Amino acid sequence: MPRAQRIDIKPQQEAVPPVEPCTLVIFGGSGDLARRRLIPALYNLTLDGLLPGNFAVLGLGRKSLTDETFRSTLREGVRAHSRQPLDEEAWNTFARRLFYLSGGNDDPQTYAALKARAEQIERQFELPGNRIFYLSIPPSSFTAVCQGLEQAGLASRAARPYARIIIEKPVGRDLASAREINAVTGRMFDESQIFRIDHYLGKETVQNLMVVRFANSIFEPIWNHKYIDHVQITVSEAEGVGSRATYYEEAGALRDMVQNHLLQLLCLVAMEPPYSLDPDVVRNAKMEVLRCLRPITGKDVETYTVRAQYAAGKVGGTLVPAYRQEPGVKPESTTETFVALKCFVENWRWSGVPFYLRTGKALPHRASEVAVQFKDIPQILFNANRQQPQPPNVLALRIQPEEGLSLRIVSRVPGTREQTHPVEMDFRYGEVFGRPSPESYERLLLDVMAGDASRFMRRDAVEASWAWITKILEAWQQQAARSLPEYPAGTWGPVEAERLIQQDGRSWRVL
Ligand code: BG6
Repeated sequence: MPRAQRIDIKPQQEAVPPVEPCTLVIFGGSGDLARRRLIPALYNLTLDGLLPGNFAVLGLGRKSLTDETFRSTLREGVRAHSRQPLDEEAWNTFARRLFYLSGGNDDPQTYAALKARAEQIERQFELPGNRIFYLSIPPSSFTAVCQGLEQAGLASRAARPYARIIIEKPVGRDLASAREINAVTGRMFDESQIFRIDHYLGKETVQNLMVVRFANSIFEPIWNHKYIDHVQITVSEAEGVGSRATYYEEAGALRDMVQNHLLQLLCLVAMEPPYSLDPDVVRNAKMEVLRCLRPITGKDVETYTVRAQYAAGKVGGTLVPAYRQEPGVKPESTTETFVALKCFVENWRWSGVPFYLRTGKALPHRASEVAVQFKDIPQILFNANRQQPQPPNVLALRIQPEEGLSLRIVSRVPGTREQTHPVEMDFRYGEVFGRPSPESYERLLLDVMAGDASRFMRRDAVEASWAWITKILEAWQQQAARSLPEYPAGTWGPVEAERLIQQDGRSWRVL
């Protein structure tokens, strides 16, 4: 099929949000997220000339590191994970603005030292004192950090210089803990200063979901239960738990992925058209979806949810140990590494339309998409043969890899016979726009610097999604005695996940 022509679009000046010089303080500065995502994101923003010329980063962590060792770990992170290659000269200029301070989150002295160090850096670079505190730490430490910031006088509500706080997901581990974190942060900061990050909301294709729906006239009239048979949302990862067992053992796939990323995707697919792009108008529309989710409680978890854990297997030819054999995982762990579930949005638009969600680690490969499957056509004309029904139309929005969108339609096979075959109309970002999309953390860090919260989760939405998830967690707890299904690493989950969808006469998409 001929590909769409590449188009070269000049960036619009007004599309770049204005950002003021600031200092980014990263709690958990010596951790994985800073090394793999945050610093590479800042480095790429610098290369693209999008960061204010003047900024500084102060990493904070338990490890005892000098500024120099901190910089060299981050350099490795950039070399391995940056979207654009490491350029020595650019790196050296950038790295001069990276600093490290060691200290425990629950030690009051940490905050006095933090204040002194931040002030010293700000004097050195003539920074205006705007500060962003990034909490890349377990949710159990959020309260201690907020209190520490407050006691050291760092939790200012002033408009200038500003203080903003970024909370990495998951915000809590159930509804009660999420409420507690929201209450504590809410006492110290105004909602406009709090940015609850879900990095999926910064992904190019996730942002495109709203554009596809509301910037094209062909979709909205058919975006409802009359024309849509069901929706599938898949976020599949090839990697196992890696070095994050301590965190993951406490979380599991439902808390780690469904509560935030998958539910946010569901909201974007299911929301009503917002009347403007104002952050709160968009977030209100998404919030309505969460309110309409039919709760899955008690025995219903057996019908509507499947959880499982990976056993040893091969992913892409490489042997992967069973989850329970991974370093840091308890040998008797019952943490789920895979979840599949079926849910309903109970409103007029989506009445009776199932949303099938699945996510897991150690699956065959990395592939995330939202697929909207339309209803079958009547069994006449080209669909008259009941033994060989025509495949339905599917609109698939590929989140990663190969970001893009495809529409499956049935076409006539050229020739003298009456033969039909499904074909894909395919659009790929990389091919059409000819430049790689920025990483989601690039977009989101810029948003925080610009004070734009549209792509962040509001307090009520976090609590609404936890309320829904907590019911499933509670019901799972009651069935704890049952054994947890397993799936060999490198497969698409347990047979139970197949049954979940097959019992409705449907099947998971092959990705
Ligand atoms: C994070 C989860 O939020 O998202 C990780 O904590 C997961 O467990 C990651 O691996 C997936 O993100 P991405 O951008 O690689 O799809």
